[in-house]
Amino acid sequence: MCGIVGYVGQRDALDIVIEALRRMEYRGYDSAGVAILDGHGHTAIEKKAGRLENLDKQIATVGRQSLAGTTGIGHTRWATHGQPTDRNAHPHAGSDGSIAVVHNGIIENYAVLRAELEASGVEFSSDTDTETAVHLVEREYTSGPTAGDFVASAYAALRRLEGAFTLVFTHSFHPGTIVAARRSTPLVVGVGDGEMFLSSDVTAFIEHTREAVELGQDQVVVITADSYTITDFDGQPSAGKPFHIDWDLAAAEKGGYDFFMLKEIAEQPAALADTLLGHLDGGRIVLDEQRLTDDDLRDVDKVFVVACGTAYNAGLLAKYAIEHWTRLPVEVELASEFRYRDPVLDRSTLVVAISQSGETADTLEAVRHAKGQKARVLAICNTNGAQIPRESDAVLYTHAGPEIGVASTKCFLAQIVAAYLVGLALAQARGTKYTDEVAREFAAMEAMSDAVTEVLGTMEPVGELARSLAHHDTILFIGRHVGYPVALEGALKLKELAYIHAEGFAAGELKHGPIALIEDGLPVIIVMPSADGRAILHSKMVSNIREIQARGARTIVICEEDDLSARSVADHFIPIPKVPTLLQPLVSTVPLQVFAATVAQERGYDVDKPRNLAKSVTVE
Ligand code: F6R
Repeated sequence: MCGIVGYVGQRDALDIVIEALRRMEYRGYDSAGVAILDGHGHTAIEKKAGRLENLDKQIATVGRQSLAGTTGIGHTRWATHGQPTDRNAHPHAGSDGSIAVVHNGIIENYAVLRAELEASGVEFSSDTDTETAVHLVEREYTSGPTAGDFVASAYAALRRLEGAFTLVFTHSFHPGTIVAARRSTPLVVGVGDGEMFLSSDVTAFIEHTREAVELGQDQVVVITADSYTITDFDGQPSAGKPFHIDWDLAAAEKGGYDFFMLKEIAEQPAALADTLLGHLDGGRIVLDEQRLTDDDLRDVDKVFVVACGTAYNAGLLAKYAIEHWTRLPVEVELASEFRYRDPVLDRSTLVVAISQSGETADTLEAVRHAKGQKARVLAICNTNGAQIPRESDAVLYTHAGPEIGVASTKCFLAQIVAAYLVGLALAQARGTKYTDEVAREFAAMEAMSDAVTEVLGTMEPVGELARSLAHHDTILFIGRHVGYPVALEGALKLKELAYIHAEGFAAGELKHGPIALIEDGLPVIIVMPSADGRAILHSKMVSNIREIQARGARTIVICEEDDLSARSVADHFIPIPKVPTLLQPLVSTVPLQVFAATVAQERGYDVDKPRNLAKSVTVE
């Protein structure tokens, strides 16, 4: 949520900052802005509500020459405090325009600080919490004990702030120096040759350098073209975490697809394979970083899965697998609800926190609550070194590669198999599955890459169907057993991308209320369980389809090719390969992703950037 970038070097900062913002736009697109230091005591700021293209147009109008300079910062906003207007767009400047700031996160004590600043005569020009930070630095610089020292003034101001924030400051009289700080929201330094970059994530500077340093909690970094210095908020030396970026640029670009999301759907076979890679060794499941030992896993007497949105739906699927394999009770909880209802947790509870970004504030707070209650926390995350894995006892990374489309696709599939790996590790440690059974389950998961590839090859008719149904205002999804979370995920994808009223239901629940929604011609997408081994479930589902068909529903059935009884009640059917029951979501979700993306395209919407959403949600 909110992308921030910074550059100090020898090149034209504007080009670099704008290109970085383009890559960061998935983090928010309510407004965009840049501040460029001309090196002669002036900072030029241009900012505009709406997408980056609005800022591009504004810069073209004012002329690029007014934004010449080799130090710059930029911001792409997902609004928290204050409307998404020009006035509230970042960067914000202090009263005399010398100091500029961009910010990701929330300054929680901003109301107190603002009142204090206003009482001393400071006039605010926005409704944001961010502006308090720049005025604080300005006050320190002009009249505090650190007067005239930009870096020291920034430290003094930072120590007054509470909340979660990444803040990046520049000063016209100190071009070539940027001060940035991180508390609970991400910040990485890109280390170039005679140039330095700052950003919320590495995609912003991946084309310029592969060497990066990740800042930890409560660290401050001061960059110049040739150096970066990391300290804590008191200025004591501190170490960042250097790493080499092994993603290639193509992975962060569209690769010929109209939208990142379509590319990411196509990347799902690789995401599955890469997530599983290396996790079976000598017939045993190994999790990343053995920070949870077999003894720890044996101690577990209850599992909680906490997550939001799509990751929550992956968590629902984890429950089916983990309970089945381990006989441990598993509760799946929306992270935003978890800590507010006093869940029963202790040292024997394993909390599995699933988060693609590793930044989601609701999930992070759930992790903190669990740790406060002494539970062990294992994070499933796609972002190396993000806050959630950092604060967890152990982490299992999904290796899906960067997910740029705001709607999660390949990470959902990767999260499912990662959560299943946790289930198998628990089963193996607790002896509820023998080594050969674990190896068989693992091999079945490995085979899913090919199964997903097969499904991807059959998506043309799904696209046609989606186009023919794109005018509907309501579409329902139903499923049973593992098909139920898939129905929820199908509905979530459709509502977030196509802004259509879409709801997922457990098929057995229809008769308890939702069946009243069925009317003539209403499309209902049905995720059919396999007839093999699940005969009762299957026949109940066929009955449910008959019930809604009798009331006029248009039935679209996702089922195995040879499932003739399901096909007999289908107005349209979407074939999927026959795979083990617990793994069926990996194939049945794919048509639902394609369906939602195609409906959105048909309606003329930006598939990668659905309205009102951001890729990582760092506020509760
Ligand atoms: C939906 C979607 C969101 C995220 C949710 C959690 O397509 O992407 O529902 O799944 O905001 O995000 P992470 O996984 O980053 O914690």
